[in-house]
Amino acid sequence: MSEETPRPPRRKRYSGKNPRRFEDKYKEHDPARYGETVAKVIASGKTPAGTHIPIMVAECLDALTLEAGMTGVDATLGYGGHALKILEHISPDGKLVGLDVDPLELPKTEARLRGSGYGADRFEAMRSNYAGISKALSQCGLAGVDFVFADLGCSSMQFDDPSRGFSFKSAGPLDMRMNPHRGLPAADWLAKVNPEKLEIALQENADEPRAESIALALAGKIFPNTLALASAIRRSIHVSDEDERELTVRRVFQAVRIAVNEEFAALDAFLRALPNCLNSGARAAILTFHSGEDRRVKQFMKAGLRDGIYSAMSDGPIVAGPEERRLNPRSSAAKLRWVTRT
Ligand SMILES: C[S@@+](CC[C@H](N)C(=O)[O-])C[C@H]1O[C@@H](n2cnc3c(N)ncnc32)[C@H](O)[C@@H]1O
Repeated sequence: MSEETPRPPRRKRYSGKNPRRFEDKYKEHDPARYGETVAKVIASGKTPAGTHIPIMVAECLDALTLEAGMTGVDATLGYGGHALKILEHISPDGKLVGLDVDPLELPKTEARLRGSGYGADRFEAMRSNYAGISKALSQCGLAGVDFVFADLGCSSMQFDDPSRGFSFKSAGPLDMRMNPHRGLPAADWLAKVNPEKLEIALQENADEPRAESIALALAGKIFPNTLALASAIRRSIHVSDEDERELTVRRVFQAVRIAVNEEFAALDAFLRALPNCLNSGARAAILTFHSGEDRRVKQFMKAGLRDGIYSAMSDGPIVAGPEERRLNPRSSAAKLRWVTRT
């Protein structure tokens, strides 16, 4: 082989026909190159490793009432699935600002959207918490926008990557921070938390019915990794039904994640800031994934409608259709609500 054409890197070794570990699924991590494999994974109802399938795209676009030339914000950029569709609808001269707290995924998403042809005049990516949406807009020189979209919670890239510590399916450091450079990892948070505070978090963040006994078993303890926490949760409850036991593990992981990332405080600040960011007639649409999020969004929107801040609100939650729920189980819990700024 000549010096100009270096040998391609060797494929990683794994046992069996197909890679099973998140980091070994090199084809799924590269949809631009291995589109056929990725399409097969999606058709089987799974999310390809390192990607995210956007949820209720048609419903979200409809709720935002987009037109060419509009300027708006995607407050939770993630993989950029919704952002890409929004950009198509506001092109050729619209502008989108994409916010995300995740410093690991944001540069990859920015590069993907640039690769799809959106330059800095059409799309700007900012590492920012959506609680600071007003500041982010003024940094972009925008007094108000024509739409704001938010798709709350974590992305599949974060959930599925064991090294981020969100998943109880494989061993990983007990971290769970969307921004690993800020705040306490979940392991430190659990080691410091007292049973009363943990019980409240389990109730408020995940409607956990066995909050008291689980809090007593977990608070102040040290867990070396995600699997150790999952085992401790299973041991702390006396439930014979396996599905219910696994649902409990899921709820406790959700509650700890919400606490570690201070998700409700950020959401409240975002909802308070929203009216001042929207131009008259502008739409805000928000996708939620559990009752704690949806309750907040619904209450803020209803109060805004009552006080004349908003002139219209969606009639109840908009949910995913049966085909999407079958193809992407993560869409089953989604609820979309929108408001129009007076
Ligand atoms: C469900 S994903 C969004 C997926 C995106 N709509 C797509 O189509 O790829 C949620 C994203 O919001 C980000 N996020 C969560 N809380 C945030 C906050 N307070 N401020 C900004 N971004 C946040 C997460 O890091 C994650 O990337």
